[in-house]
Amino acid sequence: MKVLDSKFVKDFIKMADDGYHEGWHERNGGNLSYRIRPEEVETIRSRLSDRGEWTPIGVSVPDLAGEFFLVTGTGKYFRNIIVDPEACITIIEIDEKGENYRIRWGLVEGGGPTSELPTHLMNHEVKKRVSNGKHRVIYHAHTTNVIALTFVLPLKDEIFTRELWEMATECPVVFPDGVGVIGWMVPGGRKIALETGKLMEKYDAVIWAHHGMFCSGENF
Ligand code: 13P
Ligand code: ZN
Repeated sequence: MKVLDSKFVKDFIKMADDGYHEGWHERNGGNLSYRIRPEEVETIRSRLSDRGEWTPIGVSVPDLAGEFFLVTGTGKYFRNIIVDPEACITIIEIDEKGENYRIRWGLVEGGGPTSELPTHLMNHEVKKRVSNGKHRVIYHAHTTNVIALTFVLPLKDEIFTRELWEMATECPVVFPDGVGVIGWMVPGGRKIALETGKLMEKYDAVIWAHHGMFCSGENF
């Protein structure tokens, strides 16, 4: 099957486009990843290239060894994902140790996976464990109103959880475990990946103060 004809790829593109239309993805802001099911990999295996070089992830994710992910490319605009998906997104494979990845499809004009790959993969590793393999989607968006709140409220889990729960009746239904908050940190590396991963043990949504949000779910 052609990669772009797969349902999971169509769903990924739709969600990225929905996020763009929410106003959460200025320029290249935000990133999205999906842990591909083994049977989905088989339907597209003949379309995958094995010429990509193994590259260090920067963190170790042994519980994701051998898994395939569909992820957004670094510096690529969410606006353009629906326009030219093969240039903006990529399928990567994780090696048998969980320390390196290689590109198997996409990014036809060059580039690499998102600079937030360490956080995405560490969150996937945590969520795969705590959800018994059910969670497959990790999404980072520059959620404007929540970012604004991080300039106003004390940066504490319980304060943000209560404020958001009180703002809309649906909130406690959608995230009954609450939200985690971390203070401003340099994005795109091991340190912020470790901090976010700790909170993902407990929450499905983590706010990065003055930056955006990471969340996890079973599907798009
Ligand atoms: P990337 O373009 O590398 O995905 O970075 C965007 C972003 O939001 C960083 O936090
Ligand atoms: Zn960001």
